[in-house]
Amino acid sequence: MTAPSKDLPHSLPKTFHVKSFGCQMNVYDGERMAELMAAQGLTAADADSADLVVLNTCHIREKATEKVYSDIGRLRKHGRKPMIAVAGCVAQAEGEEIVARAKVDVVVGPQAYHNLPDLVARAAAGAPALDTDMPLASKFGKLPARRKVGPSAFLTVQEGCDKFCTYCVVPYTRGAEVSRGFDDLVVEARALVEAGAREITLLGQNVNAWDDDGRGLHDLIRTLDRIPGLARIRYTTSHPNDMRQGLIDAHGDVESLMPYLHLPVQSGATRILKAMNRSHGRDDYLRLLDRVRAVRPDIALSGDFIVGFPGETEADFRDTLSLVGEVGYAQAFSFKYSPRPGTPAAGLTDEVPAAVMDDRLQRLQAALGRDQQAFNAATVGRRCQVLVERRGKLPGQMLGKSPWLQSVHFMGDHAIGDLVEVTLTAAGPVSLSGVVQMAEAA
Ligand code: SAH
Ligand code: SF4
Ligand code: F3S
Repeated sequence: MTAPSKDLPHSLPKTFHVKSFGCQMNVYDGERMAELMAAQGLTAADADSADLVVLNTCHIREKATEKVYSDIGRLRKHGRKPMIAVAGCVAQAEGEEIVARAKVDVVVGPQAYHNLPDLVARAAAGAPALDTDMPLASKFGKLPARRKVGPSAFLTVQEGCDKFCTYCVVPYTRGAEVSRGFDDLVVEARALVEAGAREITLLGQNVNAWDDDGRGLHDLIRTLDRIPGLARIRYTTSHPNDMRQGLIDAHGDVESLMPYLHLPVQSGATRILKAMNRSHGRDDYLRLLDRVRAVRPDIALSGDFIVGFPGETEADFRDTLSLVGEVGYAQAFSFKYSPRPGTPAAGLTDEVPAAVMDDRLQRLQAALGRDQQAFNAATVGRRCQVLVERRGKLPGQMLGKSPWLQSVHFMGDHAIGDLVEVTLTAAGPVSLSGVVQMAEAA
């Protein structure tokens, strides 16, 4: 049993704040926890004043994990003692250790957060409360209905991972691959649209592995496409090995499915991919992209990369650079390898020195930055719809996203959630400007 913390007991909190640190699914979980606490009658507040602060953590790299401990220190500055709940993937991975190390009140894993109100009540009564179970019955049926959401909303359709890449903690923190049921998802998607969403991004650690009784992600997308008021569908993150022909075909003929594909490859060297247990080689990946581009030539491609995996040589790294050159990514995320406790790669001894990793990351990011700029420049002159997400800093300025997920700003007077016909006129490194296309005279 965990020893009671000296900071307990608390009274039942009246205000709450949820801070999410991780991937889009972690952000989605954060939104659902906020809805759950609001349904209990708590009011949202700033981190600095809330009675209950939920830190919704990420365990993917060491830096992400350490953030939670510095945040706990910050929350307790100036003698403040909010109730602190650690949720998310660090909660799952470290469990009781967090209570021992940081004397927090609640620890709740990503598959157990529907129990947050109970855990908070138990902590208020005087003992730290912990739940990192991965129950068979899904948490989703126990969460309140979706309320007000922005024009672009997330919808988790699949969780967990069975791929066991040798560097990755996700199979341990999120558990095995589980797909939510078709009907349940259609109900939630409709609720999101009624609550204001014009765009839905379907989320999963391997979202394209989603299946329900023989139906694949493309069947779900084709059904959601028919929801009145839903203008755009996106999905992320996909695994190359789960990219079936049905989904590729959907990119050719489902109008609301946006021309954007996030398909991480991690490395361009087949030898390293093997050591990573990615179960696909460099050429498999490149041929797959050929098939996607054949049905949707303008598709914007995005990826994730790890540099400095143990044993990565300069020649391996150059294979990554040459793959990047061949693909021409519109956007990408790149990271230095971070050994994670409990993963097979953490035991490898042929580590790449830190200075070499830094150098490779810099070179890779320079190449990816150039490609992003080139992709953006190539879209200048195109006319497209921009989904307005918010107002800009300048008077009359609107900000939104193009179909290719580029940030676009333009002058106009539109409501948040409007789809505005814009011609892209100039490209900067991270965003584009555009002008509103006047409706043509009849
Ligand atoms: N399921 C997704 C990714 C989840 S994690 C997929 O397979 O694509 C997001 C990204 O974090 C990964 O794609 C990888 O690039 C990076 N990542 C995961 N573990 C890491 C580690 N130990 N060190 C550095 N980067 C890592
Ligand atoms: Fe991690 Fe690999 Fe699973 Fe992605 S596919 S979540 S990188 S184990
Ligand atoms: Fe991080 Fe967990 Fe997402 S480890 S990346 S929050 S699945």
